[in-house]
Amino acid sequence: MKDMYILGIESSCDETSFSIVKNGKEEIATVISSQIDIHKEYGGVVPEIASRNHVKNVTIVLEECLEKANMTMDDIDAIAITYGPGLIGSLLVGLEAAKTLAYLFNKPLIPVHHIAGHIYANSLVSNLEFPLLAIVLSGGHTEIIKMTDHYKFEKLGGTLDDAIGECYDKVARVLNLEYPGGPKLDKMAHEGYPNYKLPVPLNDDSYNFSFSGLKSAVINLAHNEEQRGNELDKNDLAASFQKVAVESITNKVRKAINDNDIKMVIVAGGVAANSAVREEMTKLCEEQKVKLSIPDLKYCTDNGTMIAAAGYYAYLDGRRADLRLNSKSQDKLA
Ligand code: KG4
Ligand code: ZN
Repeated sequence: MKDMYILGIESSCDETSFSIVKNGKEEIATVISSQIDIHKEYGGVVPEIASRNHVKNVTIVLEECLEKANMTMDDIDAIAITYGPGLIGSLLVGLEAAKTLAYLFNKPLIPVHHIAGHIYANSLVSNLEFPLLAIVLSGGHTEIIKMTDHYKFEKLGGTLDDAIGECYDKVARVLNLEYPGGPKLDKMAHEGYPNYKLPVPLNDDSYNFSFSGLKSAVINLAHNEEQRGNELDKNDLAASFQKVAVESITNKVRKAINDNDIKMVIVAGGVAANSAVREEMTKLCEEQKVKLSIPDLKYCTDNGTMIAAAGYYAYLDGRRADLRLNSKSQDKLA
């Protein structure tokens, strides 16, 4: 088969990103325009402001990406677009750009689920070996997905309430850290010791997770210490929270490896950038003698590269969309 260059477009939250990837594996050029500095002062992403900034950025990011790749739209074989899930206004800006380009330049349009994108960030660094477990840890998702082949997803379990990234960000707010608090909390955890006792949530036989109880336990602990006039050791609290949150994930992944005939574990999503997740998953996979893939830090959070990579395998799986494709704020991968 001839080489295939896919233009990937991501705009589901607060990053406008275009990327060109060759054969689902080789990054040619990526441009990401992040709005973090704009949303920081509100303590989280404001959907309306996010959509308006996508509108401002979308053509500039596209032009920059083509320029960086030294390519024109004639060199592109197909366009992969995140159709959902995400913020509807933000998604629609990327989708309209993708449809316009597909129509103008007569290119196939490939619909990509945002989580498939996070999962396929791994194909940029590893050869995927099936059956595998994809551990999706992001701001909106916490799921264990079994894949028996490319683009064959089966959900084994997921969070019953908050996602892990959401929990990190909410706990970070209690510690007065700026949005997005997850990475800052991760850093603080390294400065402290896990001296505070917190319960490991949903320590049962399922593949599910629950993080809202853990979040409440941290908030209550902080308030109680304050009311008692005790000084809260924020670094210790961060270390205690991180230990329990990551232990909850590795417990369930261990069970899923044991119950299924798994060759490889791949980690995906923004929280795959977490240092304890990376460390503990490495230990677990060594102990279980399965291969492990974790994307480079730059591919963990939202980007067009992962969408272009997923788009390649979606294309091989025969997935195409026409100009009636619509964005979906919510949609199940499996
Ligand atoms: O995957 P992502 O970019 O967005 C979604 O699709 O949801 O993930 C963003 C999330 C945020 O909640 C952010 O705080 C978290 O990933 N995050 C981290 C770290 N880096 C990013 N959480 C904990 N530790 C980190 N190092
Ligand atoms: Zn994401």
